[in-house]
Amino acid sequence: MDIKKIGIIGAGTMGTGITQVAATSGFEVILNDVGEDYIQRSLKIIEKSLTKLIEKGKIKEEKEAILARIKTTTALEDLKEVDFAVEAIFEDFDVKKKVLQDLDKLLDPSVILTSNTSSISITRLAATTSRPSRFMGMHFMNPVPLMTLVELIKGIATSDETFQQVKGLAEALGKVPVEANDFPGFISNRILLPMINEAVYALMEGVGTAEAIDTVMKLGMNHPMGPFALADLIGLDVCLHIMEVLYEGFNDPKYRPCPLLKKMVDAGYLGRKTGKGFYDYNL
Ligand code: CAA
Repeated sequence: MDIKKIGIIGAGTMGTGITQVAATSGFEVILNDVGEDYIQRSLKIIEKSLTKLIEKGKIKEEKEAILARIKTTTALEDLKEVDFAVEAIFEDFDVKKKVLQDLDKLLDPSVILTSNTSSISITRLAATTSRPSRFMGMHFMNPVPLMTLVELIKGIATSDETFQQVKGLAEALGKVPVEANDFPGFISNRILLPMINEAVYALMEGVGTAEAIDTVMKLGMNHPMGPFALADLIGLDVCLHIMEVLYEGFNDPKYRPCPLLKKMVDAGYLGRKTGKGFYDYNL
């Protein structure tokens, strides 16, 4: 199928980034969210990011031409005509299930439906729809405009044809697709999140300060960001949710979420998005 128009559901950090990359790559995009305020915030972030990337010469096209390819709507029905859809809403199975089922009813049966979930089983999400063979995981990395990887996850029923089409689309978006099997956390979060969780244990036990631990990982291991700066970027609620999915998915105590991570989420210290996480930020 020739993909021209992409529907993106959820104007949070990931939906915003995916919208930007899709529009920059020449696709028509319809961005949907229930809240108009989220959509407006998303458009501001895209505008700012495009300005920066154009100034640096990383994008050659005029900003207005890219923005003109983005339409927004608070009504899911407006996605009826899209050729491809990416769900990027809140990481909650029941919330995703409701939206995926609504989309499934709305979209032509030939349309591929994907989820940007960071850890929920693709097989389980696919089974809530009537098109499990045309359902897949398409997991982008944050910040989407700068990160090259897209993790592609087949559910148990995903067809090879679907996989090849999604792979082709990921490449058309300028990304490098990597296939991961459908196990909790896939590849990326199976490895990244236990590292972040271990850093929080090290902080809780007083092995080092957040700054010291981040510096060790940056200067000692050449990571571009330390685990606390990265956790604040990802969102501590998202980090905790992924640890819970790993813990429950494998029934293995090695994935036990650190009590300090839970406490921070309880306090509403969610990282950059709330202005406070392991570090403080100006909103
Ligand atoms: N759009 C445009 N420009 C952006 C941007 C965006 N979205 N985000 C940052 N930039 C810009 C910065 O403003 C900065 O610009 P200036 O040089 O003009 O100041 C420039 O990019 C470089 O940023 P930094 O100075 O902060 O330096 P950096 O070289 O460290 O690059 C980074 C930033 C690419 C984010 C890098 O730190 C990095 O790779 N960090 C790790 C990110 C990572 O691991 N992401 C995966 C998270 S896990 C995930 O997403 C999966 C999940 O399910 C949880």
